[in-house]
Amino acid sequence: MRDRKSRIILIMKVLAILGSPRRGGNAETLLDKALEGVQSTGVSLEIEKVVLNELKFSPCQECGGCDKTGRCVLKDAMQDIYKKIDQADAVIISSPIFFGSLPAQVKAMIDRYQCRWVAKYILEEKEIRPAKKGLLILVEASARESFLKNAQSIIKNFFAVSNIGFTAKLYCPQVDKRGDILKDEDCLKRAFELGKETIKNDGRGQ
Ligand SMILES: Cc1cc2nc3c(=O)[nH]c(=O)nc-3n(C[C@H](O)[C@H](O)[C@H](O)COP(=O)(O)O)c2cc1C
Repeated sequence: MRDRKSRIILIMKVLAILGSPRRGGNAETLLDKALEGVQSTGVSLEIEKVVLNELKFSPCQECGGCDKTGRCVLKDAMQDIYKKIDQADAVIISSPIFFGSLPAQVKAMIDRYQCRWVAKYILEEKEIRPAKKGLLILVEASARESFLKNAQSIIKNFFAVSNIGFTAKLYCPQVDKRGDILKDEDCLKRAFELGKETIKNDGRGQ
């Protein structure tokens, strides 16, 4: 009888989150570039892109509904986002800077992680979900480092609560109009490379 070796092919799940409301804008162009980099690795992948602006969910209502359970009681599109992020192996967030910070769409999603903050730090629930990799991409019209740092600190906080490592970041200042980023070859190249690096050497895939 011949030995039959079973080969397990693990599929790596990559969740790409667009924080900009402008489709085809600078953040989305870089997000797509990063996904091209992800795909270039030849790893078995499941890629999903989420456009926050197209989802219907409410900001945190501070209702205390999660205080005892660590679960959000609001039944809207965020329930799907919790699931998608939980199941992802890597999360890529790409966003513009709005008024020195993250757009409302991104901040609303993050605020809805208050339930997970409660679960982790108040209820001291043990983390059962595997750690994920996290790539942050930010664009802004100006070259204000303080704005990028501000957004970064919020994302770092969010990543920590959701068991996402802050694996890499890409900041592209001085892009404003839709398509401006296409003139920044360096940023486009970096987005591709960082997408690739985010999942390579993971020891998974084929
Ligand atoms: C509401 C709003 C607020 C903005 N605030 C800032 C800001 O504080 N600093 C900055 O450098 N750019 C700011 N911008 C410019 C965007 O960050 C910039 O145009 C970016 O490239 C847009 O990316 P997108 O095409 O992915 O939406 C703002 C744009 C909008 C629409």
